[in-house]
Amino acid sequence: MKFPYSDKVLEHFRHPHNVGRIEDADGKSMEGSPACGDMVAVYIKVNVETKRIDDVKFESYGCASNIATGSIITDMAKGKTLDEAKQISWKEASEALGGLPPIKAHCSVLAVEGLRSAIRDYEEKHGLAAHDEPTTREVLERRLKHVMNPLTGLDVVRTNLIKEVDIKSGAVRVLIDLPRDHQFAKAISEDIEDKLKSLWDVKSVSIEFTE
Ligand code: FES
Repeated sequence: MKFPYSDKVLEHFRHPHNVGRIEDADGKSMEGSPACGDMVAVYIKVNVETKRIDDVKFESYGCASNIATGSIITDMAKGKTLDEAKQISWKEASEALGGLPPIKAHCSVLAVEGLRSAIRDYEEKHGLAAHDEPTTREVLERRLKHVMNPLTGLDVVRTNLIKEVDIKSGAVRVLIDLPRDHQFAKAISEDIEDKLKSLWDVKSVSIEFTE
């Protein structure tokens, strides 16, 4: 059978570069695709002085296109400054791979979004992000769409796991529709805390459970 993939895609899929996790990453992200339910995680190490990406790794729970794009964009991002790496587009990634079937465009978008989110995570943790947007309920919900619900592989907002979320004077409160002793309760609350506490005007995050 002939795969509808270029040789370059197949080569990166079979022997992906920069696969793995960086335990002491300076920035990290986990992005999920609503189109297929797959996920990608990206980790970066950044040189504080030069703001260049010294190292970058990714883990993919996606298809061949996603793995090949993760491989090529991490190659492209290594050694670039954060601003340069943010400019890498899925179109460039797909061109560098010799093209992707149109039905697979979302897979490369997912990998590129993963890289951009890891950069945003670094910028927020280091006070480099633009501070012009005050954190509202909508901002929190947008951010929570990047927290996966391990029960379904989709995010916690779309799967209605978040019952309530609000912010008052910098204090965020999130109510999760799970018993406190659920096997995933700890992992989900840590992920939520991680995603929300780096917002510039958030002072505290309290997570509650329905039971
Ligand atoms: Fe899910 Fe490609 S089909 S990442």
